[in-house]
Amino acid sequence: MNHPNGTKLPVLLLTRRFPDAVTARAARDYRIIVNEDDHAYGPDEIAAKAEGADAVMVSAVDKIPGDLIRALPDSVRMIATFSVGTDHIDLAAAKERGIVVSNTPGVLTDATADIALLLLLGAARRASEGERLIREDRWEGWAPTHLVGVHVTGKRLAILGMGRIGQAVARRARGFDMEIHYHNRRRLPVGEELGAVYHADADDLLAVADFLSIHSPASPETHHWLNAERIARLPDGAVVVNTARGSVVDDEALIAALASGKLAAAGLDVFENEPRLHPGYAPLANTFLLPHLGSATDQTRDAMGFTALNNLDAFFAGRDLPNRVV
Ligand code: DGY
Repeated sequence: MNHPNGTKLPVLLLTRRFPDAVTARAARDYRIIVNEDDHAYGPDEIAAKAEGADAVMVSAVDKIPGDLIRALPDSVRMIATFSVGTDHIDLAAAKERGIVVSNTPGVLTDATADIALLLLLGAARRASEGERLIREDRWEGWAPTHLVGVHVTGKRLAILGMGRIGQAVARRARGFDMEIHYHNRRRLPVGEELGAVYHADADDLLAVADFLSIHSPASPETHHWLNAERIARLPDGAVVVNTARGSVVDDEALIAALASGKLAAAGLDVFENEPRLHPGYAPLANTFLLPHLGSATDQTRDAMGFTALNNLDAFFAGRDLPNRVV
């Protein structure tokens, strides 16, 4: 199939079912290979489906390890991920093979920050316990001591990772009069901190964290960063929120702290080894759990797809990529 200008359309493998508007635009500008039943492809399947493709559009849950990158057909010149995170892709292997990689930063900031606040409030105020009570017809009426949660307004919020999403969480939390503390590799310019207190040492941040919200990308340095030792530094009764990546948290340590009452609650949208959660989370009443919904709004998912396509379009037009990672 040719473009109206006579050039041959590049072949694009879509590893998942993407939003309709995104798929329609992809079908207009590329010869697309679609995933009819939207099952999660394994690495061998991706390599096989990519036969003859010029590029692959993947999602955050498609694992693209070095072995797969080396097994991709020579025709594949670009991987556009429908995500801001790139931890699922072996970037060094892509670079070695000369495969360009792009991501979708910026467009999911608000949706993810909204979910962080939902988790913070839901965990603190025991929303899932309350909701279950009603759905299971077990509510016996208002009582002065019933389902008493953690007060949010005016408390200290510690943000680990003050990038776009961390900053958007801080802006929202100010609406709850929270005192914002943060750690980031680099301190923000003072004018952009908007009153937040910087902690050069991430461990110092923990001591002031009535609420800890994690916004660090997955990396070897952040693997199981929130471990038993760091949890011990948190104030008793703290609430932990994670919308970044599950691997930043040591599940065993977090579950033990939730079970012992060291921590009041946790609100989690991401898990190591998704979609299989550590079995310790679900039975705990003080966990508020969501299935990786951070970016799941109609507007955001369209924007992620269009951003991925903008990156592909730029690549095939020989222009600089807006969001080139490798
Ligand atoms: C991302 O883009 O990395 C998110 O985790 C998907 O919601």
